[in-house]
Amino acid sequence: MERTLVIIKPDAVQRGLIGEIITRLERRGLKIVAMKMMQISKKLAAKHYGVHVGKPFYEGLIEYITSNPVAVMAVEGRQAIEIVRNTMGATNPAQAAPGTIRADLALEIGRNLVHGSDGPETAAFELGLFFGEDEILSWKRDTDRWISE
Ligand code: RTP
Ligand code: MG
Repeated sequence: MERTLVIIKPDAVQRGLIGEIITRLERRGLKIVAMKMMQISKKLAAKHYGVHVGKPFYEGLIEYITSNPVAVMAVEGRQAIEIVRNTMGATNPAQAAPGTIRADLALEIGRNLVHGSDGPETAAFELGLFFGEDEILSWKRDTDRWISE
């Protein structure tokens, strides 16, 4: 089973959307295998968003993601990386498909509520940044067999 990192960003926490976002992921059948509230340090943000260094939005992105608490999760499921990305919608909410988190709940690219890892290597790297191995649980859910063949 694939695992990916989800960050419920500061705007979503401030707007009381933690539950809404978790509900959408849970209802697809994804399984939460780690979860915590934290405030991201500048150092951690720089590692997490290292690929964006030098881009015009970088400084604002670091300010935003470190400004207030976030909720972070490791979620698991078949094709979890792609499923989470599709549930989130396009980076810019203006272009996100209706029914996605970003289209339904957000307006602007710089306040797009949620992060999901964009590939297998990124997922492994980001999960390692945010969680110790002992924080990610392998657990059996009674509904698993009704969600995955
Ligand atoms: P994320 O990493 O947060 O899951 O978002 P993403 O993969 O959909 O988008 P990415 O290209 O990785 O960009 C990371 C975050 O930077 C902000 N951004 N602002 N103003 C802009 O042009 C711009 N472009 C990106 C967004 O908050 C985006 O989620
Ligand atoms: Mg990204």
